[in-house]
Amino acid sequence: MISSYYHKHSVSYRNNEITIALRLAMELILDSAITEEVEDISKWGVLDGVTTNPSLIRKSGANFEDTIRKIAEICPGPISAEVTSHSTNEMIEEAIDLKSRLPKNVIIKIPCTPDGLAATKTLSERGIPVNVTLIFSVSQALLSAKAGAAYVSPFVGRLDDIGQDGLGLIEDISQVWGVQGIKNCKILAASIRSRRHVEVSAKLGAHAATIPYSIFTELIQHELTDSGLDKFKSDWEAVKSEGRA
Ligand code: E4P
Repeated sequence: MISSYYHKHSVSYRNNEITIALRLAMELILDSAITEEVEDISKWGVLDGVTTNPSLIRKSGANFEDTIRKIAEICPGPISAEVTSHSTNEMIEEAIDLKSRLPKNVIIKIPCTPDGLAATKTLSERGIPVNVTLIFSVSQALLSAKAGAAYVSPFVGRLDDIGQDGLGLIEDISQVWGVQGIKNCKILAASIRSRRHVEVSAKLGAHAATIPYSIFTELIQHELTDSGLDKFKSDWEAVKSEGRA
């Protein structure tokens, strides 16, 4: 039996049966509320989920719930839908309401505030997975993990924007997770601005990265792949024209 999404490779033997638990590569999540973008990337077969936020919904120009439903249908992975209320009780009510009406693979995004932490604790205790967003420090990540978050989302690009070290935060959180043995909360590198952000986040141990469409499409590109393919095509045409195919 082979199962996926484990954080470590391990092989166990029982009754002559080999069980391999392997961790697939870092989760690749699309940071978008545009359904055409989700459709496009999901065809690649590597998309693990989608994150949205109120700004992305605004940019999409479409209705919030219709959009989340469509995205959840295209991509079976976790789809983050963000609450828009601010007090603990309102966030809990909103999250429970969203979970009851939206598809099962929708998870709830909660901002990293004291009210958000309390809401995260209650929701996680009720079995509702929470992605705590707007994380800019190790302390915020640690508090969110303690509250029961399934994902913490440190914003790499927005820290870089103010002259701080976004990838340094991923490194620090990753180190704390290792030292503290935190296992049930995934580090989701967010606010990704470049291919380097994705690659270094992977190197530093992020469990997931949420990537805008423009960067996602860059990940697959390399000029040597293009020129190599052109050469293979022209050489194969030559083989065919020589009657050797
Ligand atoms: C995370 O889930 C957010 O949607 C996102 O990564 C924010 O990125 P931005 O800084 O590009 O808005």
